[in-house]
Amino acid sequence: MNTSNNIDLFLPKPNNTDYFANTLGTTILIKNKKPIRIYLTGEIGTGKTTFARSFLKTIGVIDKIKSPSYSILEQYNIDNLNIYHFDFYRLNHHMEFLDLGFKDLLYEKAIFLIEWPEKTKEFLPTPDIEISFQCYKEGRIAKVLARTIQGIEWMKIMETKNINLQYLL
Ligand SMILES: Nc1ncnc2c1ncn2[C@@H]1O[C@H](COP(=O)(O)OP(=O)(O)OP(=O)(O)O)[C@@H](O)[C@H]1O
Ligand SMILES: [Mg+2]
Repeated sequence: MNTSNNIDLFLPKPNNTDYFANTLGTTILIKNKKPIRIYLTGEIGTGKTTFARSFLKTIGVIDKIKSPSYSILEQYNIDNLNIYHFDFYRLNHHMEFLDLGFKDLLYEKAIFLIEWPEKTKEFLPTPDIEISFQCYKEGRIAKVLARTIQGIEWMKIMETKNINLQYLL
């Protein structure tokens, strides 16, 4: 079902995931005073890091982009704006999140991409956009849900861009 805060996309190949990430990346590049939070859910191998990598490149990250699967956090900086790419899969229990000292950082005016947010959801603020990936045929389905006013605005901008993504009926 597609409404103003909700789109379902069919991404038949990895480059469709790249294209979608690119579209969202260019949309959020509009100057912003608030933190930007995008959470990526879905089983192992459904394309969360693929999405994150393309998104980070689109917003101007030129460093080598590593998956945070092992490190839990990979951090970047563009023009004094911090960008945090988390993967919480390896957290053994929710309290480990506090032990690692991440809680305060989440309220910075920064960009947050979080894989496996469900591993520590009680400590995480509401995301602007949540994207849940699943395998479908040879490709992926991405269910995109805007959960803040800022997120809903981005969804509207993406619609006006006539983004040529394949919408599921
Ligand atoms: N739309 C797509 N169609 C088909 N394959 C895809 C698509 N998007 C990504 N993939 C492929 O899925 C594989 C796994 O992707 P990726 O590492 O991004 O998954 P992940 O969700 O981050 O996994 P993890 O939970 O282990 O971090 C890669 O080989 C990637 O090319
Ligand atoms: Mg990953």
